[in-house]
Amino acid sequence: MYNASTMNINLHKLPFLLSLFLFLSFLAFLSLRSLHKPTVLLPPDLRIRPGYSSYDAYIERQLNKTLNPKLRHIWTTRDWNRKVKVFSEFFNNLRVGGFLFNNSKALCIGARVGQEVEALKRVGVDDSVGIDLVPYPPLVIKGDFHHQPFDDGSFDLEFSNVFDHALYPLMFVREIERTLKPGGICVLHLSLSRRADKYSANDLYSVEPLKELFKVSELVEVRRIDGFGLDTEVVFRKKNK
Ligand SMILES: C[S@@+](CC[C@H](N)C(=O)[O-])C[C@H]1O[C@@H](n2cnc3c(N)ncnc32)[C@H](O)[C@@H]1O
Repeated sequence: MYNASTMNINLHKLPFLLSLFLFLSFLAFLSLRSLHKPTVLLPPDLRIRPGYSSYDAYIERQLNKTLNPKLRHIWTTRDWNRKVKVFSEFFNNLRVGGFLFNNSKALCIGARVGQEVEALKRVGVDDSVGIDLVPYPPLVIKGDFHHQPFDDGSFDLEFSNVFDHALYPLMFVREIERTLKPGGICVLHLSLSRRADKYSANDLYSVEPLKELFKVSELVEVRRIDGFGLDTEVVFRKKNK
């Protein structure tokens, strides 16, 4: 039964209970934030776009475009040869530079319907495959670039023009460095001077942040390109140790 003295004791506890409640709410807020935001501090010149409330929301936005049946039809018909031709020129240039060979084992990251994989095969790099959230067999298998479905040290060369789609750029780069062989090459096509479309998850303003994200590789080349709205090619080589 309640009486005046019980009420007194409970009123005494009120400030303690209130602070406990506030403290627990603060902890819950912090843990929810860390679910959706990278806990690492990103270098200046690289910004994650706001508006992705969860990883599922991010994947849903990516799939929205990639699964669009009309666009998939265009990518695999009208766009096909034009894009394969341009990619082939880029890959031929990498061969001339000594970064790519016929016996290279190559991976294209975020390859959608695989025009870049087809281009690699056309220039003679037979052992090539792509990954994307949506598979397009046999050129592209299903895989999230934040968790590549490959063993450590699998590839001689990894190519990607979708760095701007990474919600977690450090994981994107870590996975590349994990799955490259020692001495392996990573080629990224980037847009530094123009903001990409609403499907991008980050904005990169210079090459500097990449030099910080790549922990066990060295930057060996930077050049201007004209590649489907992307303006810069960077080449990293994974160190041998
Ligand atoms: C701008 S498109 C580029 C497609 C292709 N590389 C090309 O040039 O035609 C970006 C691609 O990245 C894929 N993508 C986005 N997030 C991804 C993720 N976390 N893992 C794998 N692929 C992803 C999308 O599904 C989409 O196909």
